Amino acid sequence: MSEQNESLKAEPVSRPKRIGVLTSGGDAPGMNAALRAVVRSGIYRGFEVYGIRKGYEGLLSGDMYEMNLRSVSDIMNRGGTILQTARCPEFMTEEGVRRGYRMAQVFKLDAIVVIGGDGSFRGARDLARIGMNVVGIPATIDNDIDCTDHTIGFDTALNTVKDAIDKIKDTAYSHERCSVVEVMGRGAGYIALSCAIADGAEACILPERHFDIDTDIIQPIIGCRNRGKHHYIVIIAEGVGGTIEIAKQIEEITGISTNATILGYQQRGGSPTVKDRVSASMMAVKATELLANGERNKIIALKNEKYVAYDIEEALNMKKTLDPEMIEASKMLSL
Ligand code: ADP
Ligand code: F6P
Repeated sequence: MSEQNESLKAEPVSRPKRIGVLTSGGDAPGMNAALRAVVRSGIYRGFEVYGIRKGYEGLLSGDMYEMNLRSVSDIMNRGGTILQTARCPEFMTEEGVRRGYRMAQVFKLDAIVVIGGDGSFRGARDLARIGMNVVGIPATIDNDIDCTDHTIGFDTALNTVKDAIDKIKDTAYSHERCSVVEVMGRGAGYIALSCAIADGAEACILPERHFDIDTDIIQPIIGCRNRGKHHYIVIIAEGVGGTIEIAKQIEEITGISTNATILGYQQRGGSPTVKDRVSASMMAVKATELLANGERNKIIALKNEKYVAYDIEEALNMKKTLDPEMIEASKMLSL
């Protein structure tokens, strides 16, 4: 073959394996730490690493670029995600997933690392079903991914909520009020339950359990008052809803001055805690190790303090539930 023809060959016979990485769904503190570790450990293992902007939206539009060791400098301590994220309705269609796979081929991606929540993993599973190799790294403040004990961002969100409720408690104490606080978590009560224990809430209402206002809120408050308490914290998980109405009813029924605070998006931001930085880093290192070993279609998880991997189909069929001992403890300790 002439020298000129040689240079027209589209691809060298053997090229380094190329992985794409994206962050998808709701952002979570620690996504940057996970991205940094995918890029650094990926390059260490000989991969080319492409950052895909704005989750599946960027995959569909081919919005991606090659990252290097310095692309991820000084991001570990930052909340949010430098790749940005998106909810992408088109990716929930068969046609969208097919287009995503096609674009991955255009960029010659051998695998995609998806840093995100349950919804993002369903998108990844759909890509896997048509031939893409995917690895999921669980990141959401909600901690609602069934195969793992811990998701990246959960611990930071807990600390943010703890700080906010500590402050709300100061004013509830001073005015002898009841403060009703709504925390995030979508359909899950993991943030609510942990913070009920961490903040000594008098009542905590979880979406996983049916609730009755008399039994689960009014009786505990009156009981606490009769035992000498003068201020009260009631935590409502977002998935329960009706927080403002619940606060009104508490005031009407008990006569105790009651206010409501919806903590909102501050729970998604902030510099990740050590726990989230370490789990993000370790999960990402595990993800590139699996890819280097030629494994396919896995979700990384933290199970009983060990970083492990499950087949993506198996992981999405697992079920985890709130710890009943934690529910019991939160009630006992508020007496
Ligand atoms: P999270 O990943 O935090 O749970 P979402 O549920 O919003 O967040 O999912 C993020 C994105 O993943 C969605 O915008 C969509 O592009 C994709 N996705 C979600 N659910 C599915 C599904 N069932 N099938 C395919 N893609 C999905
Ligand atoms: O999944 C994280 C989360 O913050 C949930 O707790 C909340 O229900 C949801 O995302 C809010 O989503 P959005 O950013 O679309 O308002």
